[in-house]
Amino acid sequence: MPSAIVTGATGILGREITLELCSHPEQWDRIYTVSRSNTEDFGPRVKHAHLDLTGKPEDMARNLEGVQAEYVFFAAYLQKDSEDEATRVNGDMLASFLKALEINGVHTKIKRIILVCGAKNYGVHLGAVKIPMEETDPWMPEPPFPKNFYYRQQRILHEFCETHHTEWAVTYSTEVLGFARGNFMNLASAIGIYAAVSKELGDELVWPGSTEFYTAVTVFTDAKLHAQFCNWVALEPKAANEAFNITNGDADSWMNLWPRVAIYFGLRVPADQFSRPTPLASEKPLAPQPPLSLQADAAGLAGRTSQSFVRQRVDLQKWSQTKEVREAWKVMVEKDGLDAKALEKASWAFAGFAWGRDYSQIISMSKARKLGWTGYQDNWENLERTLGELRHSKVIP
Ligand SMILES: NC(=O)c1ccc[n+]([C@@H]2O[C@H](COP(=O)([O-])OP(=O)(O)OC[C@H]3O[C@@H](n4cnc5c(N)ncnc54)[C@H](OP(=O)(O)O)[C@@H]3O)[C@@H](O)[C@H]2O)c1
Repeated sequence: MPSAIVTGATGILGREITLELCSHPEQWDRIYTVSRSNTEDFGPRVKHAHLDLTGKPEDMARNLEGVQAEYVFFAAYLQKDSEDEATRVNGDMLASFLKALEINGVHTKIKRIILVCGAKNYGVHLGAVKIPMEETDPWMPEPPFPKNFYYRQQRILHEFCETHHTEWAVTYSTEVLGFARGNFMNLASAIGIYAAVSKELGDELVWPGSTEFYTAVTVFTDAKLHAQFCNWVALEPKAANEAFNITNGDADSWMNLWPRVAIYFGLRVPADQFSRPTPLASEKPLAPQPPLSLQADAAGLAGRTSQSFVRQRVDLQKWSQTKEVREAWKVMVEKDGLDAKALEKASWAFAGFAWGRDYSQIISMSKARKLGWTGYQDNWENLERTLGELRHSKVIP
């Protein structure tokens, strides 16, 4: 039975990969987890290595002495403010880790390395994209598009696997709905805190994003489903040396989900929410040309792919710093015993961006389905379960 190394095992995606492998003792023997912190006891089959992936490969190799594995799941990630910095740091982390495996001779045993990437591969952070995004879509040229850290990571992975005759696989998830202890950098925390504070303030649940994105079409990836997918991708012979999109399976929209969020928190969505004054609104342009412009000529869209914008009707970063929100949060922390750091640490910038966009995003699941993947997750049940986990861990009341 094979063993596995999971990097980023305390993160939203890596934690679920670890739990998934643990739940299949008939498939996986020993599991080695790697991260700087260690927030959870995964049980006797899991051994943790405290490791800083930004360190020297030689130091990492020393920390990894005795670790042998046939499969590697690389889900470590360091968020950086600029694309250049994200590319340097996240590329270097992968390269140094692979070098450490080489130093220890572990590379001779490895059968497949699974790299966790995302839909930024298609430029969803830069503007309007082709619908649906498919794995065969060409990568964006850098320049004129900014550096893409997934491209650097995938090039490093391809080169390592080619040199060592090892297999690789890559996953592209979309907006992840999932939970990791002490990690507030996720969409569900932002949703939950925004709704709970709105309730504390006696407000209704006003959509903070753009008018366009409320009715646009979007997709989600459940962190648990992604973990099941990683298990499938690792062991499925036909998945070798391939990159795969992974979503819950159905498209959705916030006009469908937002009223359900309201009901979950005992609130209602105001019928006139889009005609109310917007004192905390903001607007930010994205890349001068959206990724869709690359396909404009072939798709007969020349001259029709203008710059995209992020328009927040309620700028969430500004909102989270207002006096009334901070005071309401203080009351809630005391009353409900919440984790005080959650308001400040929640990913307001990411949620504001995700909801403020003026374009749809769908990634195709055809490639994996054609190879036999049948996994599926209902979007609302995914969000509801994640909100439940946040409640249980006192991030929200
Ligand atoms: N979350 C999303 O919505 C989403 C969507 C699409 C794609 N993705 C992609 O999925 C991948 C994983 O993201 P995630 O959201 O799961 O990340 P995350 O929740 O922020 O977790 C990052 C993990 O990396 C570890 N890590 C960070 N710096 C490290 C270092 N220097 N040394 C060792 N470990 C380090 C962290 O552990 P320690 O801090 O304990 O070291 C943590 O376990 C990324 O490529 C991300 O872009 C995420």
